Amino acid sequence: MITIKSAREIELMRVSGKITAKTLTMLMKTVKAGMTTAEIDRLAEDSIRSMGGTPTFIGYNGYAHTLCTSVNEEVVHGIPGPRVLKDGDLLSLDLGTTLEGYVSDSAVTFPIGNVSAEAKRLMTVTQECLMLGIAQMQAGNRLGDIGHAVQEHAEKNGYGVIRQLVGHGVGTKLHEEPQVPNYGTPGHGTQLRPGLVLAIEPMITEGSYEVETLDDGWTVVTEDGKLAAHFEHTIAVTNEGPRILTLRDYAEHPDVNRYRPKEEAA
Ligand code: MF3
Ligand code: CO
Repeated sequence: MITIKSAREIELMRVSGKITAKTLTMLMKTVKAGMTTAEIDRLAEDSIRSMGGTPTFIGYNGYAHTLCTSVNEEVVHGIPGPRVLKDGDLLSLDLGTTLEGYVSDSAVTFPIGNVSAEAKRLMTVTQECLMLGIAQMQAGNRLGDIGHAVQEHAEKNGYGVIRQLVGHGVGTKLHEEPQVPNYGTPGHGTQLRPGLVLAIEPMITEGSYEVETLDDGWTVVTEDGKLAAHFEHTIAVTNEGPRILTLRDYAEHPDVNRYRPKEEAA
C-alpha cells in the first residue's frame, strides 16, 4: 500500500531530514584518511542522538550500526568496522534518522583525499542522476519518468545502472511502497501525487551493473571490482514541485553538494 503523507507528517519528516542532513555534512567535513569506518559510525550515532533522533538502521533486519560505509567497489550496505580509510578511497555514507516515528534516509559519496579524475566524474554524474530523478517528482508524472531520467543520464555517460537495488517509499517505515527503480519507461508506473514521499537513490557503476553480496550478508560489491557511487535524498511531492527533505547546506560542502536546488537553502 502506498501511503500519502499529511502536511504535518511531511513537516516531521523535514525535521528528521534536517538531522540526517546535518549529520552527513558534519561527517563529510570530519572524515579523513586514517580513520576507521567504526569511528565514523560512532560520530554519526552521537550526532543523530545529540539532535534528539534515533539511528533508523540499528535493528533494521538485524543490522547493528548507524551507517552503511561502502568503500570503492562496495556499492551499498558496507558494515562499519576496523577498516582504515586511505587517501584515494571513494567513500559512501548512508544513514537514516527516526524522529517521532518518522524516517528520513540519505546517502552521499565523497573522496578521501585525492581521487582520480575518473572517480570524480563518476561521483558528479551520479549526483546529477539523483537531481534529474528528483526533477521528475512532479504531481501527475509517473515512477517510470524518474527511473528513465536517472538511467538516461548514467548510460549517456557510459555508466551502469544497478538493477538489483532500488529506491523506495519512506515514512513511518524505512522501506515503504512503491519501489523506485533507477531505470524505467517514461509515462509508465504509479502516478505521483502530492504527499507521496520517496527515497530516490541511484547506484551507478564505472563498469558492469552486476553486483554480488559478500559473505557478511550485507556488503554489496560490483562483480567486476570497478568503482560505484551512491547518492540518496528523501523527497516529498508537493503542489509546488519536489521538496527535498534531506537537503544539506550547500555552503558547508560545495564540492559534494554540487547541485543546489533553487527552492531552499537548508
Ligand atoms: N539506506 C538503505 C536503503 O535505502 C538501507 C540500509 S539497510 C540497513 O535501503 F539495514 F542498514 F538499514
Ligand atoms: Co534508501
